[in-house]
Formats: sequence, C-alpha cells, structure tokens
Amino acid sequence: MTGLALNPLDYISSSSSSSYTTRKCAWVVFLLTTPSYLPGILVLAYTLRKYNSKYPLIVAINPSIAAETITALEEYGLEVRMVQPLVPRGQITLIAERFVDTWTKAAVFGFDDYDRVCLIDGDMMLKRNMDEIFDIPLKEDQIAATFACICNLDKSSWAPAEWTRDNCGFAPSHGSDSITHPGPAQPTGTHSLLNSGLVVLTPSQLVLQRIYELVESGDKNDQERIKEWSFPDQDLFADLFRGKWISIPWIYNSIKTMRYWHGNFYNDHDVRNLHYICKKPWKYRPKYNSPEEYERTGNVYKVEAGEYAQVKDNDVGLNEREADAVTHGWWWEEYECMLGQMRKNGYGWCEFVDNLTDRGQS
Ligand SMILES: *[C@@H]1O[C@H](CO)[C@@H](O)[C@H](O)[C@H]1NC(C)=O
Repeated sequence: MTGLALNPLDYISSSSSSSYTTRKCAWVVFLLTTPSYLPGILVLAYTLRKYNSKYPLIVAINPSIAAETITALEEYGLEVRMVQPLVPRGQITLIAERFVDTWTKAAVFGFDDYDRVCLIDGDMMLKRNMDEIFDIPLKEDQIAATFACICNLDKSSWAPAEWTRDNCGFAPSHGSDSITHPGPAQPTGTHSLLNSGLVVLTPSQLVLQRIYELVESGDKNDQERIKEWSFPDQDLFADLFRGKWISIPWIYNSIKTMRYWHGNFYNDHDVRNLHYICKKPWKYRPKYNSPEEYERTGNVYKVEAGEYAQVKDNDVGLNEREADAVTHGWWWEEYECMLGQMRKNGYGWCEFVDNLTDRGQS
C-alpha cells in the first residue's frame, strides 16, 4: 500500500528492532451481555481479514452470552474466550453495578499467553491494515491509545463541562502533523483523557493485580474517585496509566464525528480504523440515492453536495443520520460483501445476524 511513505509510528522510536512479528499478538474484542454487537464484530473480523492482518481476533465473552451467539462467532472462524465477570466485594459493590462490564474488560491484562494484545471495540471497522501498532515500543506499565475527542460540538447534555473544542487533545493538530506528530498525553487536565476503543497493551499479572486492588479497595479516596468516573472503561485506563500512556495518531481510532469536527486534519484516505461511536451503523442504514440521483451527484448515499466539504468545526448543521450517511454507508458496503461471502460459503447464521441489523430504508 502506497500513501504514507513513513510508518506513522516512526515518531515514537527510530529503532525498529522491536518488531513483534515473531511474537504472539492478538486483537481482542469484548462481547458482553447482549448479542446486539454481533454484526459489528463480524464486520470487524471481516475487515481484519480483508486487509490481511497477521493477527487473530479473539472474542472475549462472559457467561451470559447465549450459545447461539457463540456458535455464530465460532462458525466464522473466531476464537471465543470466556472471561469471568470481576465482581467487587465490600463497600465498593454499591457503585459497581454500572462498572461490571468495565471490570470484566480489565481481564484482558490476564491474557498473558500473548506478548501483546490490542483491545479493539466491536463498533470499529478497518479501512486499511494497521498491524504496525503491535510494534509500538511499550515500556513496562505503558499502553498506547488515542486522545478522547471531547469537542462535544453537539452539546450533549451528558458531557462534563470541560468537554469543549479548546480542551480537546486533538485541538492543536493540523494537517499531516496530526499523523506524524500527535500531541503527547499529559498527566493532568483534559489532555490526559484517552479513548478506550483501541488500546495497545502488554498483558501483565502485575497490572491485573493493581486493577483487583482498585476494585476491592476500601480506601475512601479510591472509592470517591471511581464514583466520579463517567466513562468507566476509559477512566479506568486513564487512572491506571496516568502520565504514562503513549498518544498515537487519530487514524487508528477515527471517531466518525471527527469527519466533520476535525476537518482541518481528517482525511478519508488516512483512516485505518473507523470508530462508530454513539449510533451504530447496523442500526442506522443510510438512504441510498436512486440511480438518477447517483448519476447526477456522484454520491451513493443521500448527502447534499458539498455538505462534508463545508461542515467543519462549529458548522455542524446536519442531523446525525445525514451527517453519518457516508461512514455508515462504508459499513454497509463491507457488511453486504461479508454477507454475500457467508452465503456462498454456507455460513449458517446469516439470517440470525441480519435480523440484528436495520434493513429499514433503501
Ligand atoms: C428473523 O426475523 C424473522 C422476522 O421477524 C423471523 O421470522 C425469523 O425467525 C428470524 N430468524 C432468525 C434466524 O432469528
């Protein structure tokens, strides 16, 4: 693949001796509680194969996942691994309910039959190969992730007050510098916030032990701090690796809203991995243009001409469904290809999977 001449991660280290190609690595995605993410995870797996990732995708589940969902994953050739939910004891139990999935995800640090894993969300989809992220030199007790985009230009009421454009870790980024020189993670303030959708980490019993200690902590300060977390996954990682995590370029975790919130550096062709935050593409299928409209506009999906070219920063005047038509459309293109291939190969769960999607309008 041409495009970037440089490995985008060269800025981290000039020594390329730390290649993990001979080590044991894996992508790990969690599927907890409901099967609703199944179409997403299958498309993720499909695109990892399509872009020739050398590494397997492991689907980590908990005991509440139904047998048919497990079979649907295994029949697609995926390794399914059961993890036990980590349930806190003691006083912290009171606030633990909404953290159960987060504590369970932390179990990935116990996957120490792997030298390195990349935690990847089920609402992600590759646009290009990104195996190089396994080669990031990580010190003991380090992880790599991207900043959390906290622009909150749509003024979501659930967002903390400090979530503003000015405070966003990506705000200082421009053009290709955003790829070659992402800003560093800071120990405090909003530039300490990471997005936990994609996290490169070294499994470690020591880290797992620290998580257990935090979960079970009777310390009032720990409990108060945990109580305030609004996004448990990312707050857990930010807390454990404060001042230690490595910031990697947005292309590895391209949040769909960046397309119109960070138009000064976002480019479709740079994206390695798209992150479908909030509304899931499998539940929101974009409207397709008629052949005549396609002929006239060149757009596969119903999007007004120039809509994206102009929509940057504060000009987000689109309703979500329209705004995300293009990225959701990319998902549906991959999904339809995957489904076609599955049917051809006699995969037995096509209808089951398709029933979890929105075939709504076309
Ligand atoms: C899919 O949905 C249809 C319509 O609701 C239903 O009749 C069918 O049994 C479902 N198929 C599977 C495999 O779940």
